[in-house]
Amino acid sequence: MNHTLAVGIHDLSFATSHYQMNHSELARKYGVDLDKYRIGIGQSSMSVTAADEDIVTMAAEAAKPIVDRHGAADIRTVLLATETGVDQAKSAGVYVHSLLGLPSSARVVELKQACYGATAALQFAAALVHREPSQRVLVIATDIAKYELGSPGEATQGAAAAAMLVSADPAILRIESPSGLFAADIMDFWRPNYRSTALVDGKTSITAYLQAVEGAWKDYVEQGGRPAAEFSAFCYHQPFTKMASKAHRHLAECSNLDGAAHEILGAVHNTTIYNRSIGNSYTASLYLGLASLLDHSRDLADQHIALFSYGSGSVAEFFGATVVPGYGAQLRTAAHRRAIERRTPIDYAHYRALHERTIPVDGGDYELPEEGSGPYRLAAVSGHKRIYEPRMPRR
Ligand code: COA
Repeated sequence: MNHTLAVGIHDLSFATSHYQMNHSELARKYGVDLDKYRIGIGQSSMSVTAADEDIVTMAAEAAKPIVDRHGAADIRTVLLATETGVDQAKSAGVYVHSLLGLPSSARVVELKQACYGATAALQFAAALVHREPSQRVLVIATDIAKYELGSPGEATQGAAAAAMLVSADPAILRIESPSGLFAADIMDFWRPNYRSTALVDGKTSITAYLQAVEGAWKDYVEQGGRPAAEFSAFCYHQPFTKMASKAHRHLAECSNLDGAAHEILGAVHNTTIYNRSIGNSYTASLYLGLASLLDHSRDLADQHIALFSYGSGSVAEFFGATVVPGYGAQLRTAAHRRAIERRTPIDYAHYRALHERTIPVDGGDYELPEEGSGPYRLAAVSGHKRIYEPRMPRR
């Protein structure tokens, strides 16, 4: 393996859902002080998928601009991470590969470990590119966070996909080694196969997350990583954005990072702007945080950024990356803002109807109503098969 070769994120793009609901609707419905959502957990609205959107359509929408810009010829691997799988056998990545018209000479696979899966995919992609630097790997993180109505997790729901092109001589971010790793068998959040909504012990998940910050940081130090003071920004997985400041405060204690409380909040603020309005997108959340940081910060060229990935259950990874000079030309800031702003607001009644709607599991044939606005749609389920197609322009 060539250790001097720079490998990392060459392009980064995200997509989210057709609908959004403001937390003012939830606050009104449940009689909760809106500040609990806005300040207490750090969320202002949530992305809600339309009937003909799912993890595949969002994934393809996120990756399409990358394929349009760079072409598909060098992409020989597609790694799709999700915890909202649509099939127990077939990778959702194969549908995406087909919708995007990628070459048939490709390996395509789905990865799962709660919200951590995309970081595993990113690290595996980096290793593949180290082995064959002429190849590019398409990494996609795509999820819909769905909790029971009236449960504490409900206010943290969301939906999005992030796509990254991993290559040698990347234009945005060089991924560094070592990584700090942490794994522990804990039931803080899980979704048995027979459920469409996740089960979460919220308080346990916060404690488990903070233990993982500490464990991964300790390993990072033991592996010879950078001192915390060398990082100019810290990007954390965000099940809700307030978690990023909780995590950073804990890391500051573990790493003896000096700094007043306002500096700690400032260090993570730019990573939370998109997630505050989109909600939790599980595997994609950390990479939406990264997009938010890059899109909202003054010049970060040559700066070191820390990334912390946490997947309940649990597996975590802390790693560093360096921003490549000239990265600004590769960013998709305007498209990202558009994806958030173009969502159609819905009220609680509409949200509830969408939340309760599921595709029947009786094996029958069903057509999905034409509802979303992205370039791809789930058109039908027929003969136990999901039928995806490009969305026809509306007349
Ligand atoms: N104004 C400002 N802040 C307020 C408030 C108000 N009116 N009312 C409450 N708050 C604060 C609380 O003090 C608390 O802050 P703290 O965490 O800093 O102590 C925060 O809002 C949340 O209040 P809490 O009573 O703990 O909320 P909750 O019982 O509804 O649960 C979560 C919150 C985060 C545990 C819940 O949303 C959850 O389970 N989320 C899912 C977590 C998850 O996805 N984990 C898996 C991946 S890591």
